[in-house]
Amino acid sequence: MSQQQSFKKVSAITGMKDILPGESARWEHLEAIVRDWLAAYGYRNLRAPVLEHTRLFARGIGEVTDIVEKEMYSFTDALNGDMLTMRPEFTAGMVRATIEHNLLYERPQRVYAMGPVFRHERPQRGRYRQFHQIDVEALGFAGPDVDAELILMLARLWKLLGLKDVRLELNSLGLPEERAAHRQALVAHLETHIDVLDEEARRRMHTNPLRVLDTKNPAMQEMANSAPRLFDFLGEQSRAHFDGVCERLHDAGISYTLNPRLVRGLDYYNLTVFEWTTDRLGAQGTVCGGGRYDGLLELLGGKPAPAVGFAIGMERLLDLWEQDASYDTPAECDVYFVHQSEAAQRQAMRLAELLRDAGLKVMVHAGPSGFKAQFKRADLSGAAAAVILGDAELQSGRASVKWLRQEQADNQEQQQEMPFGQLVEFLQSRCKQKV
Ligand code: HAM
Repeated sequence: MSQQQSFKKVSAITGMKDILPGESARWEHLEAIVRDWLAAYGYRNLRAPVLEHTRLFARGIGEVTDIVEKEMYSFTDALNGDMLTMRPEFTAGMVRATIEHNLLYERPQRVYAMGPVFRHERPQRGRYRQFHQIDVEALGFAGPDVDAELILMLARLWKLLGLKDVRLELNSLGLPEERAAHRQALVAHLETHIDVLDEEARRRMHTNPLRVLDTKNPAMQEMANSAPRLFDFLGEQSRAHFDGVCERLHDAGISYTLNPRLVRGLDYYNLTVFEWTTDRLGAQGTVCGGGRYDGLLELLGGKPAPAVGFAIGMERLLDLWEQDASYDTPAECDVYFVHQSEAAQRQAMRLAELLRDAGLKVMVHAGPSGFKAQFKRADLSGAAAAVILGDAELQSGRASVKWLRQEQADNQEQQQEMPFGQLVEFLQSRCKQKV
Protein backbone atom coordinates (compact mmCIF):
# COMPACT_ATOMS: atom_id res chain seq x y z
CA MET A 1 0.00 0.00 0.00
CA SER A 2 1.38 3.43 -0.87
CA GLN A 3 1.93 5.95 1.92
CA GLN A 4 -0.76 8.19 0.47
CA GLN A 5 -3.37 5.42 0.55
CA SER A 6 -2.66 4.46 4.14
CA PHE A 7 -2.87 8.00 5.53
CA LYS A 8 -6.24 8.80 7.04
CA LYS A 9 -7.54 12.30 6.44
CA VAL A 10 -6.91 14.57 9.46
CA SER A 11 -9.64 16.94 10.56
CA ALA A 12 -9.56 19.82 13.03
CA ILE A 13 -9.88 19.10 16.76
CA THR A 14 -13.44 19.11 18.14
CA GLY A 15 -14.44 22.59 19.26
CA MET A 16 -11.64 24.27 17.31
CA LYS A 17 -12.76 26.00 14.14
CA ASP A 18 -11.06 27.02 10.93
CA ILE A 19 -11.88 30.58 10.02
CA LEU A 20 -11.96 30.46 6.25
CA PRO A 21 -11.16 33.35 3.87
CA GLY A 22 -14.87 34.11 3.29
CA GLU A 23 -15.38 34.66 7.05
CA SER A 24 -11.99 36.06 7.98
CA ALA A 25 -12.63 39.31 6.10
CA ARG A 26 -15.26 40.13 8.70
CA TRP A 27 -12.88 39.18 11.52
CA GLU A 28 -10.21 41.47 10.11
CA HIS A 29 -12.75 44.25 9.72
CA LEU A 30 -13.78 43.82 13.36
CA GLU A 31 -10.15 43.76 14.49
CA ALA A 32 -9.46 47.02 12.64
CA ILE A 33 -12.48 48.70 14.28
CA VAL A 34 -11.40 47.35 17.67
CA ARG A 35 -7.82 48.65 17.31
CA ASP A 36 -9.08 52.16 16.49
CA TRP A 37 -11.56 51.98 19.35
CA LEU A 38 -8.83 50.96 21.82
CA ALA A 39 -6.47 53.63 20.53
CA ALA A 40 -9.17 56.24 21.17
CA TYR A 41 -8.81 55.42 24.89
CA GLY A 42 -5.01 55.17 24.89
CA TYR A 43 -4.71 51.36 25.10
CA ARG A 44 -1.55 49.72 23.81
CA ASN A 45 -0.97 46.16 22.72
CA LEU A 46 0.77 43.68 25.06
CA ARG A 47 1.52 40.31 23.47
CA ALA A 48 2.25 37.60 26.02
CA PRO A 49 2.91 33.97 25.02
CA VAL A 50 0.07 31.48 24.48
CA LEU A 51 1.85 28.98 26.72
CA GLU A 52 2.52 29.68 30.40
CA HIS A 53 3.45 27.68 33.48
CA THR A 54 0.36 25.87 34.79
CA ARG A 55 0.89 27.24 38.29
CA LEU A 56 0.31 30.79 36.98
CA PHE A 57 -3.30 29.97 36.11
CA ALA A 58 -3.86 27.67 39.09
CA ARG A 59 -2.87 30.46 41.44
CA GLY A 60 -4.23 33.38 39.40
CA ILE A 61 -7.64 32.05 38.35
CA GLY A 62 -8.06 29.84 41.46
CA GLU A 63 -7.64 26.11 42.13
CA VAL A 64 -11.36 25.51 42.66
CA THR A 65 -12.71 27.18 39.54
CA ASP A 66 -14.18 25.23 36.60
CA ILE A 67 -11.41 26.51 34.37
CA VAL A 68 -8.56 25.22 36.54
CA GLU A 69 -10.33 22.10 37.77
CA LYS A 70 -11.38 20.71 34.40
CA GLU A 71 -10.96 22.97 31.39
CA MET A 72 -7.27 23.63 30.92
CA TYR A 73 -5.15 22.20 28.14
CA SER A 74 -2.13 21.28 30.22
CA PHE A 75 0.79 18.99 29.49
CA THR A 76 4.26 18.19 30.71
CA ASP A 77 7.11 19.56 28.63
CA ALA A 78 8.79 16.33 27.54
CA LEU A 79 12.20 17.97 27.50
CA ASN A 80 12.37 19.39 31.01
CA GLY A 81 9.31 18.14 32.87
CA ASP A 82 7.72 21.61 33.29
CA MET A 83 3.93 21.65 33.62
CA LEU A 84 2.61 24.00 30.94
CA THR A 85 -0.86 25.27 30.00
CA MET A 86 -2.34 26.85 26.87
CA ARG A 87 -3.79 30.12 28.18
CA PRO A 88 -7.47 29.74 29.15
CA GLU A 89 -7.70 33.55 29.44
CA PHE A 90 -5.40 36.55 29.09
CA THR A 91 -5.48 38.28 32.48
CA ALA A 92 -3.05 36.06 34.40
CA GLY A 93 -0.46 36.24 31.60
CA MET A 94 -0.86 40.00 31.20
CA VAL A 95 -0.34 40.43 34.94
CA ARG A 96 2.69 38.11 34.91
CA ALA A 97 4.24 40.16 32.08
CA THR A 98 3.48 43.39 33.94
CA ILE A 99 5.25 42.13 37.06
CA GLU A 100 8.13 40.51 35.18
CA HIS A 101 8.93 43.71 33.25
CA ASN A 102 8.14 46.05 36.09
CA LEU A 103 5.69 47.93 33.86
CA LEU A 104 4.05 49.79 36.72
CA TYR A 105 7.32 51.28 37.92
CA GLU A 106 6.76 54.63 36.20
CA ARG A 107 3.05 54.84 35.59
CA PRO A 108 -0.13 52.83 35.36
CA GLN A 109 -0.73 50.92 32.14
CA ARG A 110 -3.64 50.55 29.78
CA VAL A 111 -3.02 47.42 27.72
CA TYR A 112 -4.93 45.06 25.46
CA ALA A 113 -4.49 41.76 23.66
CA MET A 114 -6.45 39.91 21.02
CA GLY A 115 -6.11 36.26 20.14
CA PRO A 116 -6.96 32.63 20.81
CA VAL A 117 -7.60 31.14 24.24
CA PHE A 118 -8.28 27.50 25.10
CA ARG A 119 -10.80 25.82 27.37
CA HIS A 120 -11.83 22.18 27.30
CA GLU A 121 -15.59 22.77 27.49
CA ARG A 122 -18.45 20.91 25.83
CA PRO A 123 -18.75 22.62 22.45
CA GLN A 124 -22.04 24.18 21.35
CA ARG A 125 -23.11 27.39 19.61
CA GLY A 126 -21.00 30.19 21.07
CA ARG A 127 -18.87 27.80 23.13
CA TYR A 128 -15.66 26.47 21.66
CA ARG A 129 -12.44 24.90 22.86
CA GLN A 130 -10.33 27.36 20.97
CA PHE A 131 -12.01 30.74 20.92
CA HIS A 132 -10.84 34.32 20.70
CA GLN A 133 -10.93 37.18 23.15
CA ILE A 134 -10.39 40.90 23.01
CA ASP A 135 -8.83 41.44 26.41
CA VAL A 136 -8.46 44.87 27.95
CA GLU A 137 -6.66 45.58 31.23
CA ALA A 138 -6.14 48.84 33.14
CA LEU A 139 -3.31 48.16 35.61
CA GLY A 140 -2.41 50.43 38.50
CA PHE A 141 -5.74 52.31 38.71
CA ALA A 142 -7.74 52.19 41.92
CA GLY A 143 -10.74 54.46 41.44
CA PRO A 144 -14.26 53.82 40.18
CA ASP A 145 -13.56 56.24 37.29
CA VAL A 146 -11.60 53.59 35.39
CA ASP A 147 -14.21 50.89 36.05
CA ALA A 148 -16.80 53.26 34.59
CA GLU A 149 -14.55 54.24 31.69
CA LEU A 150 -14.17 50.57 30.71
CA ILE A 151 -17.93 50.17 30.68
CA LEU A 152 -18.36 53.38 28.68
CA MET A 153 -15.81 52.07 26.22
CA LEU A 154 -17.84 48.92 25.74
CA ALA A 155 -21.03 50.88 25.22
CA ARG A 156 -19.20 52.81 22.52
CA LEU A 157 -18.05 49.61 20.83
CA TRP A 158 -21.61 48.23 20.72
CA LYS A 159 -22.70 51.53 19.19
CA LEU A 160 -19.87 51.52 16.65
CA LEU A 161 -20.90 48.04 15.57
CA GLY A 162 -24.60 48.85 15.55
CA LEU A 163 -25.41 46.13 18.09
CA LYS A 164 -28.85 46.01 19.62
CA ASP A 165 -30.10 44.31 22.76
CA VAL A 166 -26.93 43.98 24.82
CA ARG A 167 -27.63 44.52 28.50
CA LEU A 168 -25.27 45.42 31.28
CA GLU A 169 -25.37 43.55 34.57
CA LEU A 170 -23.39 44.89 37.46
CA ASN A 171 -22.47 43.73 40.95
CA SER A 172 -19.91 44.39 43.64
CA LEU A 173 -17.95 41.56 45.26
CA GLY A 174 -16.68 43.90 47.97
CA LEU A 175 -13.40 43.55 49.82
CA PRO A 176 -11.81 40.30 51.07
CA GLU A 177 -12.94 40.79 54.68
CA GLU A 178 -16.53 41.51 53.58
CA ARG A 179 -16.46 38.42 51.44
CA ALA A 180 -15.18 36.41 54.41
CA ALA A 181 -18.09 37.56 56.61
CA HIS A 182 -20.57 36.85 53.82
CA ARG A 183 -18.98 33.48 53.18
CA GLN A 184 -19.50 32.44 56.77
CA ALA A 185 -23.17 33.38 56.58
CA LEU A 186 -23.51 31.67 53.22
CA VAL A 187 -21.94 28.40 54.36
CA ALA A 188 -24.32 28.42 57.33
CA HIS A 189 -27.23 28.94 54.91
CA LEU A 190 -26.00 26.09 52.68
CA GLU A 191 -25.64 23.82 55.69
CA THR A 192 -29.24 24.41 56.73
CA HIS A 193 -30.34 23.55 53.16
CA ILE A 194 -28.01 20.60 52.69
CA ASP A 195 -30.95 18.36 51.67
CA VAL A 196 -31.55 20.33 48.43
CA LEU A 197 -27.90 20.62 47.41
CA ASP A 198 -26.75 18.50 44.50
CA GLU A 199 -23.48 16.62 44.52
CA GLU A 200 -21.45 19.44 42.97
CA ALA A 201 -22.88 21.98 45.40
CA ARG A 202 -22.01 19.78 48.36
CA ARG A 203 -18.51 19.36 47.05
CA ARG A 204 -18.14 23.12 46.58
CA MET A 205 -19.96 24.52 49.59
CA HIS A 206 -16.77 24.78 51.63
CA THR A 207 -14.28 25.46 48.83
CA ASN A 208 -16.22 27.96 46.71
CA PRO A 209 -19.66 28.62 48.22
CA LEU A 210 -20.34 31.70 46.06
CA ARG A 211 -20.22 29.55 42.95
CA VAL A 212 -22.88 27.27 44.42
CA LEU A 213 -25.33 30.16 43.95
CA ASP A 214 -24.49 30.23 40.26
CA THR A 215 -26.34 26.94 39.85
CA LYS A 216 -28.79 26.21 37.04
CA ASN A 217 -30.33 23.32 38.96
CA PRO A 218 -34.08 24.21 39.33
CA ALA A 219 -34.30 22.32 42.63
CA MET A 220 -31.74 24.69 44.13
CA GLN A 221 -33.19 28.00 42.93
CA GLU A 222 -35.25 28.71 46.02
CA MET A 223 -32.27 28.03 48.26
CA ALA A 224 -30.11 30.30 46.07
CA ASN A 225 -32.71 33.10 46.04
CA SER A 226 -33.00 33.13 49.80
CA ALA A 227 -29.24 33.00 50.41
CA PRO A 228 -27.56 35.95 52.14
CA ARG A 229 -26.49 38.48 49.52
CA LEU A 230 -22.90 39.59 49.39
CA PHE A 231 -24.13 43.03 48.44
CA ASP A 232 -25.69 43.39 51.91
CA PHE A 233 -22.30 42.76 53.53
CA LEU A 234 -20.53 45.59 51.74
CA GLY A 235 -18.92 48.21 53.94
CA GLU A 236 -18.77 51.95 53.39
CA GLN A 237 -15.71 51.90 51.15
CA SER A 238 -17.09 49.22 48.85
CA ARG A 239 -20.43 50.95 48.60
CA ALA A 240 -18.77 54.27 47.83
CA HIS A 241 -16.76 52.60 45.07
CA PHE A 242 -19.87 50.98 43.64
CA ASP A 243 -21.81 54.26 43.82
CA GLY A 244 -18.91 55.99 42.08
CA VAL A 245 -19.23 53.59 39.16
CA CYS A 246 -23.01 53.90 39.02
CA GLU A 247 -22.94 57.71 39.08
CA ARG A 248 -20.59 57.82 36.12
CA LEU A 249 -22.72 55.34 34.21
CA HIS A 250 -25.68 57.53 34.96
CA ASP A 251 -23.77 60.59 33.68
CA ALA A 252 -23.12 58.74 30.43
CA GLY A 253 -26.73 57.56 30.11
CA ILE A 254 -25.81 53.88 30.37
CA SER A 255 -28.47 51.72 31.96
CA TYR A 256 -27.67 48.58 33.95
CA THR A 257 -29.23 45.99 36.17
CA LEU A 258 -27.82 45.26 39.58
CA ASN A 259 -27.45 41.48 39.71
CA PRO A 260 -26.42 40.39 43.24
CA ARG A 261 -25.96 36.83 41.94
CA LEU A 262 -23.30 37.84 39.44
CA VAL A 263 -20.09 36.28 40.78
CA ARG A 264 -18.05 35.44 37.63
CA GLY A 265 -16.17 32.20 37.16
CA LEU A 266 -12.69 33.35 38.12
CA ASP A 267 -11.52 33.86 41.69
CA TYR A 268 -9.47 37.03 41.35
CA TYR A 269 -12.28 39.57 41.39
CA ASN A 270 -13.21 42.11 44.07
CA LEU A 271 -15.46 45.20 44.08
CA THR A 272 -16.92 45.87 40.61
CA VAL A 273 -17.86 42.94 38.39
CA PHE A 274 -19.95 43.16 35.25
CA GLU A 275 -21.22 41.23 32.25
CA TRP A 276 -22.86 42.27 29.00
CA THR A 277 -25.43 39.74 27.87
CA THR A 278 -27.96 39.23 25.11
CA ASP A 279 -30.88 36.85 24.54
CA ARG A 280 -30.04 36.46 20.90
CA LEU A 281 -27.16 34.00 21.09
CA GLY A 282 -28.95 31.03 22.60
CA ALA A 283 -27.58 29.60 25.84
CA GLN A 284 -24.20 31.34 25.53
CA GLY A 285 -25.43 34.91 25.79
CA THR A 286 -22.54 36.55 27.63
CA VAL A 287 -20.62 38.66 25.16
CA CYS A 288 -18.26 40.28 27.63
CA GLY A 289 -17.26 39.85 31.26
CA GLY A 290 -14.90 41.66 33.55
CA GLY A 291 -14.24 43.43 36.77
CA ARG A 292 -11.73 44.63 39.28
CA TYR A 293 -8.92 42.37 40.57
CA ASP A 294 -6.97 44.46 43.05
CA GLY A 295 -5.31 41.47 44.75
CA LEU A 296 -3.97 39.64 41.71
CA LEU A 297 -0.66 41.43 41.22
CA GLU A 298 0.36 40.71 44.79
CA LEU A 299 -0.98 37.17 44.63
CA LEU A 300 1.27 36.54 41.63
CA GLY A 301 4.35 37.87 43.39
CA GLY A 302 4.27 41.52 42.34
CA LYS A 303 4.05 44.70 44.38
CA PRO A 304 0.43 45.31 45.38
CA ALA A 305 -1.38 47.33 42.70
CA PRO A 306 -5.04 47.70 41.82
CA ALA A 307 -6.33 46.67 38.40
CA VAL A 308 -9.53 46.24 36.40
CA GLY A 309 -10.34 44.77 33.00
CA PHE A 310 -12.65 42.76 30.80
CA ALA A 311 -12.65 40.29 27.94
CA ILE A 312 -15.02 40.06 24.99
CA GLY A 313 -15.69 36.71 23.29
CA MET A 314 -15.04 37.44 19.65
CA GLU A 315 -17.07 34.54 18.20
CA ARG A 316 -20.12 35.70 20.17
CA LEU A 317 -19.55 39.32 19.21
CA LEU A 318 -19.30 38.38 15.54
CA ASP A 319 -22.41 36.23 15.73
CA LEU A 320 -24.34 39.17 17.11
CA TRP A 321 -22.81 41.64 14.68
CA GLU A 322 -23.79 39.42 11.75
CA GLN A 323 -27.38 39.50 12.96
CA ASP A 324 -27.38 43.30 13.33
CA ALA A 325 -25.28 44.72 10.52
CA SER A 326 -25.04 43.71 6.89
CA TYR A 327 -21.56 43.37 5.55
CA ASP A 328 -20.28 43.20 1.98
CA THR A 329 -17.32 40.88 1.70
CA PRO A 330 -14.59 43.00 0.14
CA ALA A 331 -13.38 42.11 -3.36
CA GLU A 332 -10.16 40.12 -3.54
CA CYS A 333 -8.69 42.76 -5.82
CA ASP A 334 -9.49 45.86 -7.90
CA VAL A 335 -7.94 44.64 -11.12
CA TYR A 336 -7.54 41.13 -12.54
CA PHE A 337 -5.10 40.49 -15.40
CA VAL A 338 -6.17 38.06 -18.09
CA HIS A 339 -3.51 37.05 -20.60
CA GLN A 340 -2.98 34.83 -23.59
CA SER A 341 0.68 33.84 -23.96
CA GLU A 342 3.79 33.57 -21.85
CA ALA A 343 5.00 36.91 -23.19
CA ALA A 344 1.65 38.51 -22.27
CA GLN A 345 1.79 36.97 -18.82
CA ARG A 346 5.24 38.45 -18.22
CA GLN A 347 4.05 41.84 -19.38
CA ALA A 348 1.03 41.48 -17.09
CA MET A 349 3.33 40.85 -14.12
CA ARG A 350 5.30 44.00 -14.93
CA LEU A 351 2.20 46.16 -15.28
CA ALA A 352 0.63 44.65 -12.15
CA GLU A 353 3.62 45.74 -10.05
CA LEU A 354 3.20 49.31 -11.35
CA LEU A 355 -0.47 49.26 -10.43
CA ARG A 356 0.38 47.98 -6.95
CA ASP A 357 2.91 50.82 -6.60
CA ALA A 358 -0.06 53.11 -7.17
CA GLY A 359 -2.00 51.45 -4.35
CA LEU A 360 -4.29 49.16 -6.31
CA LYS A 361 -5.02 45.57 -5.37
CA VAL A 362 -4.10 43.41 -8.33
CA MET A 363 -4.20 39.73 -9.22
CA VAL A 364 -2.53 38.27 -12.29
CA HIS A 365 -4.07 35.05 -13.49
CA ALA A 366 -1.67 32.25 -12.64
CA GLY A 367 -1.00 29.26 -14.85
CA PRO A 368 -2.18 28.45 -18.36
CA SER A 369 -5.97 28.70 -18.89
CA GLY A 370 -8.25 29.68 -21.70
CA PHE A 371 -9.77 33.18 -21.78
CA LYS A 372 -13.14 31.86 -20.68
CA ALA A 373 -11.78 30.24 -17.53
CA GLN A 374 -9.70 33.32 -16.77
CA PHE A 375 -12.71 35.63 -17.07
CA LYS A 376 -14.65 33.36 -14.77
CA ARG A 377 -11.89 33.70 -12.18
CA ALA A 378 -11.75 37.46 -12.74
CA ASP A 379 -15.45 37.65 -12.05
CA LEU A 380 -15.22 35.50 -8.91
CA SER A 381 -12.47 37.73 -7.56
CA GLY A 382 -14.90 40.63 -7.35
CA ALA A 383 -12.49 42.88 -9.30
CA ALA A 384 -13.87 46.05 -10.84
CA ALA A 385 -11.89 45.59 -14.03
CA ALA A 386 -10.17 42.90 -16.03
CA VAL A 387 -7.13 43.96 -18.01
CA ILE A 388 -6.75 41.83 -21.11
CA LEU A 389 -3.39 41.20 -22.69
CA GLY A 390 -3.51 39.11 -25.85
CA ASP A 391 -1.11 38.99 -28.80
CA ALA A 392 -2.82 41.97 -30.45
CA GLU A 393 -2.51 44.07 -27.27
CA LEU A 394 1.15 43.17 -26.88
CA GLN A 395 1.86 44.23 -30.43
CA SER A 396 -0.05 47.50 -30.20
CA GLY A 397 1.20 48.31 -26.69
CA ARG A 398 -2.39 48.95 -25.61
CA ALA A 399 -4.24 46.89 -23.02
CA SER A 400 -7.97 46.26 -23.15
CA VAL A 401 -9.79 47.17 -19.96
CA LYS A 402 -13.09 45.43 -19.42
CA TRP A 403 -15.36 46.67 -16.64
CA LEU A 404 -16.82 43.74 -14.80
CA ARG A 405 -19.31 45.35 -12.44
CA GLN A 406 -22.59 46.74 -13.60
CA GLU A 407 -22.11 50.09 -11.89
CA GLN A 408 -18.83 50.72 -13.72
CA ALA A 409 -20.06 49.38 -17.04
CA ASP A 410 -23.05 51.74 -16.86
CA ASN A 411 -20.85 54.79 -16.47
CA GLN A 412 -18.33 54.07 -19.15
CA GLU A 413 -17.86 51.96 -22.22
CA GLN A 414 -17.78 48.33 -21.23
CA GLN A 415 -14.40 47.78 -22.85
CA GLN A 416 -11.75 50.39 -23.45
CA GLU A 417 -8.23 50.36 -24.87
CA MET A 418 -5.46 52.08 -23.02
CA PRO A 419 -1.75 52.49 -23.87
CA PHE A 420 0.43 50.66 -21.32
CA GLY A 421 1.97 53.98 -20.26
CA GLN A 422 -1.43 55.42 -19.28
CA LEU A 423 -2.86 52.31 -17.66
CA VAL A 424 -1.83 53.14 -14.10
CA GLU A 425 -3.34 56.60 -14.08
CA PHE A 426 -6.48 55.46 -15.88
CA LEU A 427 -7.21 52.53 -13.55
CA GLN A 428 -6.20 54.42 -10.45
CA SER A 429 -8.71 57.18 -11.11
CA ARG A 430 -11.53 54.86 -12.21
CA CYS A 431 -11.10 52.28 -9.47
CA LYS A 432 -10.83 54.96 -6.79
CA GLN A 433 -14.17 56.43 -7.92
CA LYS A 434 -15.70 53.13 -6.94
CA VAL A 435 -14.56 53.38 -3.32
P1 HAM B 1 -14.58 35.11 31.06
O1 HAM B 1 -15.93 35.52 31.52
O2 HAM B 1 -14.11 33.77 31.45
O3 HAM B 1 -13.58 36.22 31.56
O4 HAM B 1 -14.51 35.21 29.47
C1 HAM B 1 -14.79 36.40 28.79
C2 HAM B 1 -15.66 36.14 27.58
O5 HAM B 1 -15.08 35.14 26.74
C3 HAM B 1 -17.04 35.60 27.90
O6 HAM B 1 -17.93 36.62 28.28
C4 HAM B 1 -17.43 34.97 26.57
O7 HAM B 1 -17.91 35.98 25.68
C5 HAM B 1 -16.13 34.46 26.04
N1 HAM B 1 -16.00 33.01 26.26
C6 HAM B 1 -15.72 32.37 27.42
N2 HAM B 1 -15.66 31.04 27.23
C7 HAM B 1 -15.90 30.82 25.92
C8 HAM B 1 -15.97 29.66 25.09
N3 HAM B 1 -15.74 28.43 25.56
N4 HAM B 1 -16.25 29.83 23.76
C9 HAM B 1 -16.47 31.05 23.25
N5 HAM B 1 -16.41 32.19 23.99
C10 HAM B 1 -16.13 32.08 25.30
C11 HAM B 1 -12.22 36.20 31.38
O8 HAM B 1 -11.66 35.47 30.60
C12 HAM B 1 -11.49 37.25 32.15
N6 HAM B 1 -10.06 37.07 31.90
C13 HAM B 1 -11.98 38.64 31.76
C14 HAM B 1 -11.23 39.73 32.46
C15 HAM B 1 -10.21 40.47 31.96
N7 HAM B 1 -11.43 40.11 33.71
C16 HAM B 1 -10.58 41.09 34.01
N8 HAM B 1 -9.83 41.29 32.95
